Amino acid sequence: MKEPVMPGAVPNPLRSVLDRRLPRIAGPCVLVLFGVTGDLSRKKLLPAIYDLANRGLLPPGFGLVGFARRDWADQDFTQVAYDAVRTHARTPFREDVWRQLSEGVRFVPGEAHDDAAFDALVRTVRELDESRGTGGNYAFYLSLPPKLFPTVLTQLKRSGLAESSGDSWRRVVIEKPFGHDLASAQELNALVDDVFPPHSVFRIDHYLGKETVQNLLALRFSNTLFEPIWNRSYIDHVQITMAEDIGVGGRAGYYDGIGAARDVIQNHLLQLLALVAMEEPLSFTADAIRAEKVKALSAVQLPDDLATGTARGQYTAGWQGGAWVPGYLEEEGIPPNSTTETYAAMRLGVNTRRWAGVPFYLRTGKRLGRRVTEVALVFHRTANQVFDHVATANQGANSLVIRIQPDEGVTLRFGSKVPGTAMEVRDVSMDFSYGASFTETSPEAYERLILDVLIGDPPLFPHQEEVELSWRILDPVEEFWAKNGRPEPYPAGSWGPPSGHELLARDNRTWRRP
Ligand code: BG6
Repeated sequence: MKEPVMPGAVPNPLRSVLDRRLPRIAGPCVLVLFGVTGDLSRKKLLPAIYDLANRGLLPPGFGLVGFARRDWADQDFTQVAYDAVRTHARTPFREDVWRQLSEGVRFVPGEAHDDAAFDALVRTVRELDESRGTGGNYAFYLSLPPKLFPTVLTQLKRSGLAESSGDSWRRVVIEKPFGHDLASAQELNALVDDVFPPHSVFRIDHYLGKETVQNLLALRFSNTLFEPIWNRSYIDHVQITMAEDIGVGGRAGYYDGIGAARDVIQNHLLQLLALVAMEEPLSFTADAIRAEKVKALSAVQLPDDLATGTARGQYTAGWQGGAWVPGYLEEEGIPPNSTTETYAAMRLGVNTRRWAGVPFYLRTGKRLGRRVTEVALVFHRTANQVFDHVATANQGANSLVIRIQPDEGVTLRFGSKVPGTAMEVRDVSMDFSYGASFTETSPEAYERLILDVLIGDPPLFPHQEEVELSWRILDPVEEFWAKNGRPEPYPAGSWGPPSGHELLARDNRTWRRP
């Protein structure tokens, strides 16, 4: 209960600091997972739920309900969840934790359009309220192909599941893709809006759940060191790279026709851009952060010439990690004439006083040299050079690199005198790495985000306005690509097609080799 505050009383700052350091634990509730037979559920969601339980962050009054088109009983789903946890959980397996969690596991078989299945779902969550004390609080996680959203949302409304009563709450979690362009994103939102109030809708961009992405805010706004140089006077350009070594694997059905730009630039990379470019929020609340991200995304400008200001590619067969891997067109389920891009790069501007004239280069691709995501701020060179060009021949531009994954940390690159009798300057690195600096290990993004949903804490979830602004940025590029040619081939294991390199070469710059 909140303590009564006397008029004029001075709040005790120590007290509020202590309160914030207490672990954030979810209250009684049921999490209903739609799409439990999918990859995401098996590899990320079910293990994350177990990891939360193992960390003591789920209450005893917790229930987990799977819903899918399978003729399963509770025990079958429990077995599927058990296998997922044993294979993919981050934290060690503990029999007592699993037993406590699995006692609250239920399964409801059925199709999205089947009224009877949703009526069974109502009975199941009510039974959990009785047997587990879940308090009538339900979160619905839609890890589903978007074509099923309308039916499931309609069913949640028809069955009364979407409606809360008294003190209980209802929340809905939507996994990307949030549409495939602006119009479809607006349509999807209208559907969601019709069933759930905006504060109950949680859109997942799992990049925002990553520790290193949240650290961008800490780095920028809790230090004095970086803010004075975080602008066009010091920064020459910004490179945001999300490179993957994997191909499309078994995800042909989802990926083909979507492509790299819709799959990750529209969401993950533009969110990273927004966090780098935004101004300081008034506070660390969802509304204040969103207000600044929205301003940054509104200021984004596409290159005048999309032919030279963007690049796209498609991987062909090649050597990667010592193995010969097939090209995109040879992957199972991909039409042999597909024009879907597996690599995308673009130069964006941010029209604000802070960033005018500073290019933000974004690139992403599958089957690239190695798996790495990073944000690099590359600084101007010194205006005047007292050392001769021989002394500084091996010196690059200063840079600050935020290593999002896999080697999480921050690197500052600058020139240093090479020991010896001559003046020679060479680049060196000053490194912060999570592994060396913290004993705590980083939770998986999904642990953080699922916990935030259950607690009802929205700062790490993109708002519809951000989703729409991101489509506004991407739609013209997609339209241009659809009308002009096809993606340029690049061999698996390389760093993308020639046009990706030319994008920077035209500006006398090069991509960093991560
Ligand atoms: C997903 C994309 O959002 O992010 C996938 O749909 C991609 O194509 C994945 O592989 C990468 O996530 P992470 O956390 O491994 O960088």
